[in-house]
Amino acid sequence: MHDHTHSHSDIGLYCGSANPALAASVADLLGLPLGGRLLRRFPDSEVHFQIEESIRGKDIYIVQSTSPPVNEHLMELLIMIDAFRRASAGRITCLIPYYGYSRQEKKTTGREPITAKLVANLLTTAGANRVVSIDLHVPAIQGFFDIGMDHLTAVPLLVEALSGRPRPNSVIVAPDVGRVKMAERFAHLLGDRPIAFLHKRRSSATAVDVAAVVGEVEGRAPLIVDDIIATGGTLAQAVRALLAAGARPEITIVATHPLFAGPAETIGERLGHPAIREILVTDTVSVPPDKQLPTLRTVSVAPLLAETVRRLHAHESISAVFPRAAEVQPV
Ligand code: R5P
Repeated sequence: MHDHTHSHSDIGLYCGSANPALAASVADLLGLPLGGRLLRRFPDSEVHFQIEESIRGKDIYIVQSTSPPVNEHLMELLIMIDAFRRASAGRITCLIPYYGYSRQEKKTTGREPITAKLVANLLTTAGANRVVSIDLHVPAIQGFFDIGMDHLTAVPLLVEALSGRPRPNSVIVAPDVGRVKMAERFAHLLGDRPIAFLHKRRSSATAVDVAAVVGEVEGRAPLIVDDIIATGGTLAQAVRALLAAGARPEITIVATHPLFAGPAETIGERLGHPAIREILVTDTVSVPPDKQLPTLRTVSVAPLLAETVRRLHAHESISAVFPRAAEVQPV
């Protein structure tokens, strides 16, 4: 920990129920205790929250991903912000490692909501002064906020965790055109690997059709990169399409947010293909024990968040949180 003029006594770090283990790691790295709070449900399921100490004038950080159950976690976060604002916090920063509702960031047909903007409005109205998130599904969501918004990326952490891998004959694969930029970042940081992408056609929100593999994958070991693993449908289709196109059955999957939505059995079936050697994810979303696949490896974003909190609190630049950050802007 670097020395700085701001004392830790004016920071408060709190969490909702989405990521208590991640919040505890961030607190440890900062050398702070997690703030005392009461978080429970009334019998009718309404959220009750109470801060157990005075936070008047303090620099408050709330760790809460809006991961499944999304509405529960989002409402908890809004209620926590409200409580901190009414208790006269000096500044409220929400650390939302996974920003839910981000996949509805524009209308795709008529008469639809734009939920990513609605959530930004809700956070602002509740009283957040600043929001920090990691690998947003669409970077333009940053502009949905008129308060401070810091968009971090876990790509360097994931690349570091892959060190020594992938094999020299690998190809970085984007499972849809939306991830090509992310694939380019990985390809660059891993030493200019070739990239390929899948042209995906989505027939409904849950069913996915992979149309074609674009790029040279034959005889190569694929490293598939994505921001979100939700139902695993996209990846299962990608694995099938890559193998059909002659890729080697030595597949690595790297994704920031392991939502693992739906029954554990389905996740196991979709991501349990024997060609999948490893699934590398971060802890922006906590994976329950029944969904801990044997191939799953998790790298923690706690150091990234702790360093960000330290810098925000000390009014230092966060653009260089990690070495080589300039090469890896969020995609
Ligand atoms: C899509 O644009 C995203 O990058 C992910 O590929 C998608 O959200 C994953 O969803 P699922 O695992 O349900 O296919």
